[in-house]
Amino acid sequence: MTEQILEMKGIHKYFPGVHALNDCHFELGAGEVHALIGENGAGKSTLMKILSGVYTKDEGLILLDGEEINIGSTLEAQHLGISIIHQEINLMQDLTVAENIYIGREFLKGFVLNQNEQDRRTNELLDSLHLSDIRANTKVSTLTVAKQQMVEIAKALSFQNTRILIMDEPTAALTESEIEDLFSFIRMLKAKRVGIVYISHRMEELKVICDRVTVMRDGQYVGTRDMADVSISEIIQMMVGRVIYTEPKTSSAVQLDAPVVLEVKNLNSRDVKNVSFQLHKGEILGLAGLMGAGRTETARLICGADPMDSGEIYIKRKKAAIRTPYDAVQEGIGYLSEDRKLFGLCLGLSVGDNIALPNLETHRRGFVIDDAKIRRTADKYIRKIGIKTPGFYTPARSLSGGNQQKVVLAKWLERDCDILIFDEPTRGIDVGAKSEIYKLMQELVKNGKSIIMISSEMPELLRMSDRIVVMCEGRATGELSIEEATQENIMELATKTMEGEMK
Ligand SMILES: Nc1ncnc2c1ncn2[C@@H]1O[C@H](COP(=O)(O)OP(=O)(O)OP(=O)(O)O)[C@@H](O)[C@H]1O
Ligand SMILES: [Mg+2]
Repeated sequence: MTEQILEMKGIHKYFPGVHALNDCHFELGAGEVHALIGENGAGKSTLMKILSGVYTKDEGLILLDGEEINIGSTLEAQHLGISIIHQEINLMQDLTVAENIYIGREFLKGFVLNQNEQDRRTNELLDSLHLSDIRANTKVSTLTVAKQQMVEIAKALSFQNTRILIMDEPTAALTESEIEDLFSFIRMLKAKRVGIVYISHRMEELKVICDRVTVMRDGQYVGTRDMADVSISEIIQMMVGRVIYTEPKTSSAVQLDAPVVLEVKNLNSRDVKNVSFQLHKGEILGLAGLMGAGRTETARLICGADPMDSGEIYIKRKKAAIRTPYDAVQEGIGYLSEDRKLFGLCLGLSVGDNIALPNLETHRRGFVIDDAKIRRTADKYIRKIGIKTPGFYTPARSLSGGNQQKVVLAKWLERDCDILIFDEPTRGIDVGAKSEIYKLMQELVKNGKSIIMISSEMPELLRMSDRIVVMCEGRATGELSIEEATQENIMELATKTMEGEMK
């Protein structure tokens, strides 16, 4: 039996119109990795924000080493040895990596900043995390989402006194090899008796890294189990109260001679090298690859977000001149970005306005915005993909992470584009809602739409795609029909570097 360091009992939290936590329990042992699991909006982040001093609880007890504590601020939490890696990236984009990591506790020599020491310590920390391509003086805004996530992790690990480390979906933006690095780090922290709270929607990770699991549903505590005694499907049942099947696709329903709706020929840019492929009507084309393979960059060329150096795009066999995102939308291309905060959502606007925003022409009467119609549209999606929100008027900011992603999805579904590019569409989305989104995608292609899906989750690609194009270092290294695709041969193509070929 491990020594218990933390107990949370009878925790309640109210937000306007929402009873977000209703009598919640949680406990954590020294050196334990404890998974906290539940559907989008179940209350996981809220419970952990209370533990880390971001929110205050309305009722309940928090015991650290058996003694009641009151956590008034994040600073107080840090003094108690409680650190959190938030679900949403919280870095100052204009500052360097080192400045972000040591913000508020800079290294000083007398009264002046000792930048050399601060940078040296930062680089040491990054090296120990196998993050040698990120340096202390790198400006955060130049890093990809995944790398920024790693900086957040490095920051949380830089607190020397950490006894409790909360990781709120640390792997959502990471690829397999980065996840491996993270796991070895977690094992090291375990050996140092740090207790870790691990929030994730990637069920397959739980068995690998967690000792126990606590499940929440609708703000309530469902139960706690030893990982060794429970199966993944049992956990999912505790989460959603029903069984969900995930079977890979074994054959494609798309005819070989289905018309080509999109063709790209020899696309070139800084990050994309000579990429060509076709997309058929009614097809889901998977784009596989590791971080930095150029998948998002390719999508951004197709939808006019970045300029290309050379290359051609054909829509329904006709050459298209796409120079701006507006051109792409006119050509019937919708792009669901992987970075919902930057490109997907206006956090200050309501759920309804976010969905209606790209669809204003169908949501007005003359020159007047048709509020009743916006409301009907929003309500339709709130029901259809189960967006958990008090109503269509709620600001997007106050939704849970996964529910924000659903709002972005809804706005493109409503747009009625013939070609949809989904970049990591189910990142941060719970298993139940995932299967709803898969169903929706299937419905879309059945109705003659075509989809390009970028995903880092291989089971998802294998389950959804009719065909898979694999990329590595900006090039398309191969194409697999769904009949021949396996995790192994995708991996092989995804790591087929130029260097490897020259050897
Ligand atoms: N600042 C806030 N203001 C109002 N409501 C909020 C706020 N933060 C969270 N909520 C609500 O509290 C509930 C729980 O949200 P929380 O973010 O804890 O969910 P979660 O389990 O972390 O979900 P996800 O898996 O999507 O991240 C949701 O209904 C959410 O809309
Ligand atoms: Mg959350």
